[in-house]
Amino acid sequence: MCGIFGCILKNGNAAPIIHAALKRLEYRGYDSVGEATLYNGRLYIKKDQGKIDEAHKIHNLDDLPGNLGVGHTRWATHGAPLEVNAHPHVDCSKQIAVVHNGIIENFAELKLELENRGHVFISKTDTEVIAHLIEENLKTNPSLGLAEAVLEAVGRLDGSYAIAVISTKEPDKIICARNESPLVIGVNENAIYFASDIPAFLPLTNRAVMIEDGELVILSRKGFEIRKIADSGAVSREPKLIDWTSEMAVKKGYPHFMLKEIHEQPACLRNTLRLQEHYLELMATFPDRAREVFLVACGTSYHACLAASYMFSKLAFLATYPVIGSEFVEQHGKSVNIDSTILAVSQSGETADTLAAVNCARQRAATVLGLTNAIGSTLTRVSRVYLGQQSGPEIGVAATKTFTSQLSVLVQLALRLAKKRGKVSQDEMDFLAEKLEKLPDTVETIIRGQEEKVKQIAKKYKDAKTFFFLGRGVSTATAYEGRLKLMEIAYVPAIAFPAGESKHGPISLVEHGFPVVFICPKDETRKTLMSNIMEMKARGASIIAVIEEGDEEIKKLADDYVEVPKGIPEVLSPIPFVVPLQLLAYYMAVERGHNPDTPRNLAKSVTVK
Ligand code: M6R
Repeated sequence: MCGIFGCILKNGNAAPIIHAALKRLEYRGYDSVGEATLYNGRLYIKKDQGKIDEAHKIHNLDDLPGNLGVGHTRWATHGAPLEVNAHPHVDCSKQIAVVHNGIIENFAELKLELENRGHVFISKTDTEVIAHLIEENLKTNPSLGLAEAVLEAVGRLDGSYAIAVISTKEPDKIICARNESPLVIGVNENAIYFASDIPAFLPLTNRAVMIEDGELVILSRKGFEIRKIADSGAVSREPKLIDWTSEMAVKKGYPHFMLKEIHEQPACLRNTLRLQEHYLELMATFPDRAREVFLVACGTSYHACLAASYMFSKLAFLATYPVIGSEFVEQHGKSVNIDSTILAVSQSGETADTLAAVNCARQRAATVLGLTNAIGSTLTRVSRVYLGQQSGPEIGVAATKTFTSQLSVLVQLALRLAKKRGKVSQDEMDFLAEKLEKLPDTVETIIRGQEEKVKQIAKKYKDAKTFFFLGRGVSTATAYEGRLKLMEIAYVPAIAFPAGESKHGPISLVEHGFPVVFICPKDETRKTLMSNIMEMKARGASIIAVIEEGDEEIKKLADDYVEVPKGIPEVLSPIPFVVPLQLLAYYMAVERGHNPDTPRNLAKSVTVK
């Protein structure tokens, strides 16, 4: 998730305005920053790795000439967070500059094709192909205008993008286009702006035009013109007045980042489905040939590992061992060896306990693989192969969207391993791939349809002293995660365990009205889970069930229930089933008067052991 911004001013220099707007977008990523302006028929660029203030100190970002320009603040997805990968990216002749937020899935094919035509690439980014594609279009058809050349170029892109293009060929225009990445236009009497998000231009104007997927916009001193990418047809849309404060705008109108991030999950999941095939394939080779595979992480990321251990076992018939980061050295430090593979999962890539486990494994010559949301983090530097989970920055301390993204990547890895090991029939693979594709929509349906219901459940149980969270099989991981969310932000002591364990001790806590949350996908564990529900009910527990839509049997047993759409395969179930639990924790925290974004005593990234 990067931030893009640009403007055409009637008077004055664009660079300081771009710089200030990028600062307001820095929450979208801060791996590198860059600006490009046009002046007297020339393209001027300043860019560097690191945060905006650091780059400004070195380069003075305000010191670019011209009243038209574009800027970018980066959250690295393809290519390390280095100066060479910082946007804007240019074509061979350095006449075209592009800024981009999103992921171009087919960039490797396009790059190869363009290289065969003589284009020379400088960066490792997916974005650079766009500049060269436009250059190629203009070269093969010199009568094309810049907008037409961009239109043709975006027609070749698979994936998500919000882009802005400037060129010395038409130095009075900025061409923008959008597919599945946010883009909004701002207007006032003196200028026209584009941005990833309204906060970027809110101090300058409150008149905004939302650009939709499949649209291209031509910005000029005269105003803006929207066209459909598919057929170049004109679209007419008037600016809307935005009455948000700057703080509300950063949270996109949500009261807290956590709720915003819960709602961002469908979009994040769509991004995780755009993993580069060859990285996935490469990553899968190591667990396939290892003697033992450890899945190492802390907190929420550990729960993703726990779920993954079921996925690897059920799909690839591969035993893996989920281990909590801080325990790894004690438990396996002496035995881990050259035949072991460690897959470390860490949103931040900086968690000290996880990195300590990784260091121990590396010292003993084990293979280290990484899954992280922070490209350029320590984990990416120490991993033999790493995958980026593509969730964008998460600001709420409680992990939500990063958890479901991790699960989505891990299940894709499990499927890849299953294919490699020939354990799952092609029909089943196709079936699971189809269901996986639909998960972003499924999660959207849950949020849209169940949020109000969860809010009412939170109201009802807001004074509960404690909770149980129970599941069986892969849903055990979902239960653990639901419990962690509730504890960490609503400060409700809660216990989670595999439902089968109840009768071995914990059930003694249950008395009348004791809330027990059951995770109930319709899988093979269902029959025994029903018995566990009845055991609890018989002792007076209040049953809150997360069920498949229309599961009448469990509805009859439950005091309250939340429904998720039907037909979700067991191995994918933690992704949709955890969403109501995230919402429950959020609304419980709000009901109890706590700020869910900043739970006491916790930090987003735990860099001490
Ligand atoms: O950055 P990491 O994924 O390594 O962080 C690990 C845990 O600290 C983290 O998942 C924590 O449990 C969550 N923020 C809780 O919501």
